[in-house]
Amino acid sequence: MRTVSRRSLLRAGLTVAGLGAGAVAFAACERDDQSDATQFVHPDGAEVNAAEALRKPGVVRDVTLRAVAGPVDLGGVTVNTWTYGGGLPGSAIRLKAGEVLRASVHNGLPTDTSVHWHGVALRNNADGVPPMTQQPIAAGSQFRYQFTAPDPGTYWLHPHVGPQLDRGLYAPLIVEDPAEPLSYDDEWVVVLDDWIDGVGGTPDEVLAELRQGMGGMHGGGGHMMMGATSALLGGDAGDVAYPHYLVNGRLPSAPAVYQGRAGSRLRLRLINAGSDTAFRVALGGHVMRVTHTDGFPVEPIDTDALLIGMGERYDALVTLADGVFPLVAVAEGKDAAAFALVRTGSGSAPAPVVRPKELNGRIVAYRQLRPAEAARLPGREPTRNVVLKLTGGMMAYDWGINGKPFDPDHFEAIRAGERVQIDLVNTTTMWHPMHLHGHTFALESNGLRKDTAIVLPGQKLRVVFDADNPGVWMIHCHNIYHAESGMMTQLGYLR
Ligand code: C2O
Ligand code: CU
Repeated sequence: MRTVSRRSLLRAGLTVAGLGAGAVAFAACERDDQSDATQFVHPDGAEVNAAEALRKPGVVRDVTLRAVAGPVDLGGVTVNTWTYGGGLPGSAIRLKAGEVLRASVHNGLPTDTSVHWHGVALRNNADGVPPMTQQPIAAGSQFRYQFTAPDPGTYWLHPHVGPQLDRGLYAPLIVEDPAEPLSYDDEWVVVLDDWIDGVGGTPDEVLAELRQGMGGMHGGGGHMMMGATSALLGGDAGDVAYPHYLVNGRLPSAPAVYQGRAGSRLRLRLINAGSDTAFRVALGGHVMRVTHTDGFPVEPIDTDALLIGMGERYDALVTLADGVFPLVAVAEGKDAAAFALVRTGSGSAPAPVVRPKELNGRIVAYRQLRPAEAARLPGREPTRNVVLKLTGGMMAYDWGINGKPFDPDHFEAIRAGERVQIDLVNTTTMWHPMHLHGHTFALESNGLRKDTAIVLPGQKLRVVFDADNPGVWMIHCHNIYHAESGMMTQLGYLR
């Protein structure tokens, strides 16, 4: 995701020469005092093929994704940006658990890209992380991803190159349960985003400005945010001042509208596709019954609002009342909000400035959620401990892990079959939504299954997972600016 060293480029070149030959080890061009990449399972290796075979790949679903540059109408404001297929968000991809997604990606952007399938326990060489799991998809070229989606749930997709996800390159990925246990009448996928691209800057410019640290802020384009604070997030809420906040690609002044029937049961699938904003979400006049987070089921619990970090998802059921209701997603700590409408009857729409009382009602926290029986990890003592200190700060913009910025040649070693425990120790004064690729961990405290979890400032979050998906996997902050400036590392399965 960040500037690639010459060393890893060389390695990637050799990797490609070996594609298709089965278990080809990384050819490390240089040894260093850290990890020797040849020790780890190769993304195209035999172990990865074996893990994929165990998923019993089903019917193949073909989709085409075109990453394109062009104008997008946010609702009266037209921006030049990058999207999948010209719409914002990109059209949802749907398949059933156990089916195989075969996605042809055409890169119509002026630069390299990739597609990462966030949250899916997929085969390593489909994970979309150049140069670790594939070569970048060069401008004007194509790439085909093919993987089995083993678990039902609400997922999404975005590039894993630079801060591209802070443009319009995102879309929902819905994996349906062939034996869906919930009963509901309809679904509404709600994608939340913080928007800057094409409005006085690009995400690349924002990143460059942030990386100068506070010292550079006077000369910059004024995208830095000072004083965004939130008690729920333990203090500093975000680094970037966004001009707009969107629900399903729409501004509050021309909102997305869900048209439904009073009395019907609606399944909300909420996705935070933002880059530097947690959203506090409520549907005015309604209680939400939370059924899933990050795709995995929880024991259903009622809430008035949800706090959703970047990369996190929640599914919730609501029984629709009669009228017109605001869905408000407050940009937590930033004094602004995204807005959409639910309409089941006649009446005039509430104004975008409305702040339903539910926003300050019950906000279900991780500690109040319990994994559903089927989602619980079996009890077992960990056999491997990995300590990841989240380090750095806003002043120098030197976010890192264990005091170092991302190093593509460094791996935290784990072994297939282990129960791995990771301590995410936040030594910084800011919250971080930490995401692990290829696995859904469990919070050690209550077993809640997540692939992205908020770690508050000064706190430690202990998570555990079973090492059952061989390969090399990123673990990083889903604040794209933190990740890009270094808060990212990778786990490597020993061969
Ligand atoms: Cu949403 Cu490393 O990804
Ligand atoms: Cu962070």
